[in-house]
Amino acid sequence: MIRVATVKDAKDIKGIHTLAIDGLNSFYTQEQIAVWTSGDDDDMSSVIEHSPYFIVIEIQDKIVGFAGLRDDLSLRHLYIHPDHQKRGLGRELLLHIENYLKQNNNREISLEANKSCVGFYQNIGYSIQESKNIKISDQEIYITKMIKTL
Ligand SMILES: CC(C)(COP(=O)(O)OP(=O)(O)OC[C@H]1O[C@@H](n2cnc3c(N)ncnc32)[C@H](O)[C@@H]1OP(=O)(O)O)[C@@H](O)C(=O)NCCC(=O)NCCS
Repeated sequence: MIRVATVKDAKDIKGIHTLAIDGLNSFYTQEQIAVWTSGDDDDMSSVIEHSPYFIVIEIQDKIVGFAGLRDDLSLRHLYIHPDHQKRGLGRELLLHIENYLKQNNNREISLEANKSCVGFYQNIGYSIQESKNIKISDQEIYITKMIKTL
């Protein structure tokens, strides 16, 4: 089931965020992963509270993934718990976000994909705009800007 997230979900969401990024250790260094996963449950509460749209997907009342938009309506987060990846849940959440944007008269969605998931987004119709390093704290993280017309 997909539902809108509340600040009470912050701890569960932060837990999945950390686990999913820890799983990217063949793509990024320990130092990069450490800055990327820094921030605590309160920081995640604030992100949820201020996001224009932030959703979770549950299986038997347990959160197994989440997705959220930035103020500019680009995709900020899309993460599935490692135990539940590759079962269609990421696609389901992403299509839900796209439908939300379409219903609100948006004709485009953009995001910054990490090295591991460019193929996932291409599979769902996204095109590459550019790849570059972005700075998080003292680390450079290589990302790819992608876009899809809705
Ligand atoms: C990337 C992620 C969101 C994908 O969610 P998922 O539930 O595992 O993916 P799905 O099962 O919905 O996959 C949909 C399709 O994309 C493919 N796919 C999934 N992950 C992929 C990947 N990393 N690279 C290429 N293709 C991928 C699937 O095989 C499937 O293809 P099919 O429709 O032809 O069978 C999820 O694996 C995840 O959270 N990964 C770790 C964190 C991360 O990188 N998040 C994204 C932030 S940019």
